[in-house]
Amino acid sequence: MTDRIDVQKRVSDSQVEMTELVLPNDTNQLGNLLGGRLMHWIDVAAALAAMRHTGEVCVTAAIDNMSFHAPINLGSMVILKASVNRAFSTSMEVGVRVEVENPKDGTSFHANTTYLTFVGIDDHNKPLPAPPIIPESQEELRRFESAGVRRQIRLEERNRLNSLHSSRYTSNKEVES
Ligand SMILES: CC(C)(COP(=O)(O)OP(=O)(O)OC[C@H]1O[C@@H](n2cnc3c(N)ncnc32)[C@H](O)[C@@H]1OP(=O)(O)O)[C@@H](O)C(=O)NCCC(=O)NCCS
Repeated sequence: MTDRIDVQKRVSDSQVEMTELVLPNDTNQLGNLLGGRLMHWIDVAAALAAMRHTGEVCVTAAIDNMSFHAPINLGSMVILKASVNRAFSTSMEVGVRVEVENPKDGTSFHANTTYLTFVGIDDHNKPLPAPPIIPESQEELRRFESAGVRRQIRLEERNRLNSLHSSRYTSNKEVES
């Protein structure tokens, strides 16, 4: 029997497109989409892509910095396109591109792109190996390469924060004693 981890998956196998309509309950007092609601939709779209890739329950390990470039108005259509950019040992980088369409005149703009790290977990919440992914097009290959660079930056940042935290913790302990 072929093990789940031996099955190479294509990027297109993980692709998800999710469309949402901005309703009054999604907006702030200015009538624009709440940042938190957009973050939720991005998280859900990314989780679906990670689950399509692995065939397992996947959890969000981290979300990269997010910026909001332009307000998204009440009544807009929000289209979220998600796919796995690259699989590592147990984690995967998922990219989500957010496009906003005005249903009245058909105009659209690119609102945001976010990168998230997901991990497939077993019944005991332990990380599972992620199946490898095969980039096929030039665009998929570019995203695959960039995902490797971003992972390196994330790991370096995490190590830097951990060592800052432990050096502060040690010096606080010295002051207390
Ligand atoms: C994500 C989780 C499964 C990782 O489990 P763990 O026991 O810490 O396992 P590891 O440290 O081996 O990390 C597993 C993978 O996740 C990656 N990872 C963990 N934390 C990360 C972070 N903050 N940023 C980026 N990657 C991270 C690791 O690099 C590793 O990747 P790799 O195997 O591809 O190298 C665990 O921390 C967890 O369950 N977190 C809560 C998830 C959750 O509830 N999300 C919703 C939040 S509301």
